[in-house]
Amino acid sequence: MQASYRHMLLFLVALIFFLNDAHMASVVDPIYGFVEVMLNESNFEYQKPYDTPLFQRYIYQNGIHRFWVYADDKPFRLGSNTQPRTEIRILVISTTPLFLDSPDYTSGVWQFEGVAFIPNGTSGATIVQIHGAAHGNTTSLLRIYNGEMRYYSTQVIDTNLYDRWFKVNLIHDVDGGKVTVFVDNKKKFKIHDQGPGLLYFKFGVYGAPKNISYYMESRWKDVKIYKKC
Ligand SMILES: *[C@@H]1O[C@H](CO)[C@@H](O)[C@H](O)[C@H]1NC(C)=O
Ligand SMILES: *[C@@H]1O[C@H](CO)[C@@H](O)[C@H](O)[C@H]1NC(C)=O
Ligand SMILES: *[C@@H]1O[C@H](CO)[C@@H](O)[C@H](O)[C@H]1NC(C)=O
Ligand SMILES: *[C@@H]1O[C@H](CO)[C@@H](O)[C@H](O)[C@H]1NC(C)=O
Repeated sequence: MQASYRHMLLFLVALIFFLNDAHMASVVDPIYGFVEVMLNESNFEYQKPYDTPLFQRYIYQNGIHRFWVYADDKPFRLGSNTQPRTEIRILVISTTPLFLDSPDYTSGVWQFEGVAFIPNGTSGATIVQIHGAAHGNTTSLLRIYNGEMRYYSTQVIDTNLYDRWFKVNLIHDVDGGKVTVFVDNKKKFKIHDQGPGLLYFKFGVYGAPKNISYYMESRWKDVKIYKKC
C-alpha cells in the first residue's frame, strides 16, 4: 500500500513534468529563426510635436522609453495634417555589410519586438506601426482603444492590456505578403499586408483619426529588430 502510494506520487510528479514540457513546447518563441539587427541610439529618429522640445514629451530612464502626447498637440512637422505623435522611427543601419545603405527594408521577413505598458486612460493611440506600403501609407497600425489592441480601428487583436507589461512581436513577411502579431508569445492575429514598399517600424504614441483620449502614453522596453536568416 505504502509502496503503491509512492509509485502513484512518482507517476504524478512525472506527469506534471511531462505536461509542463508539452506546454512549453507549444509556446513558440516568435524570434525563432530570426537574427537580431543590432541597434543603438544612431538607429532612432525622434518625432514629436514640432513646437515642443523632446524632453516635454519623451523620457528614457532605467531602460524604459516613455512617450506621451496630447490630442491638441501640433503634428510632427509644420504643414503636416497628421495627428499628433511622439514616436521613434527606427532606421535600420548596421555595421554588418548586409545592411549597409539599407535604412529601410523592402523585402524579406522582418520583426519588431518590444515590451509595452499602456496606462489606463490612453485610448485611440497607435503604439507601434509599420510605415510604408504599396497601397496607402502604412502596412500595419496597432492601436489601443479602451485597453484593447486593434489592427487599425476595428479588428480586435487582444484585450485587457491596460496597466501591465505585455510583449509585442510584429512580423512582416514582405515576400509572403503577411503581417503577424504575437502578444505575450501567443499568435493573436494574421493578415495580408498592403503590398511591398519602403518599409520601417515606429513605436511610441500617435493619435488615431477618431476617439482619441486627450492624454496618450506608451512605455516601451527591450525593443529589438530581427531579420529572418
Ligand atoms: C551605432 O551603430 C552604428 C552603425 O549602425 C555605428 O557606426 C556606431 O559606431 C554605433 N555607436 C555606438 C555608440 O555604438
Ligand atoms: C480604467 O479606469 C476606469 C475609470 O477610472 C475604470 O472604470 C476601469 O475599470 C479601468 N480599467 C482597468 C482595466 O483598470
Ligand atoms: C498619406 O500621407 C499623406 C501625407 O501625410 C496624406 O496627405 C494622405 O492623406 C495619407 N493617405 C492616407 C490614405 O492616409
Ligand atoms: C468611436 O466612438 C463612437 C461613439 O462611441 C463609436 O460609435 C465608434 O465605433 C468609435 N470608433 C472607433 C474607431 O472606436
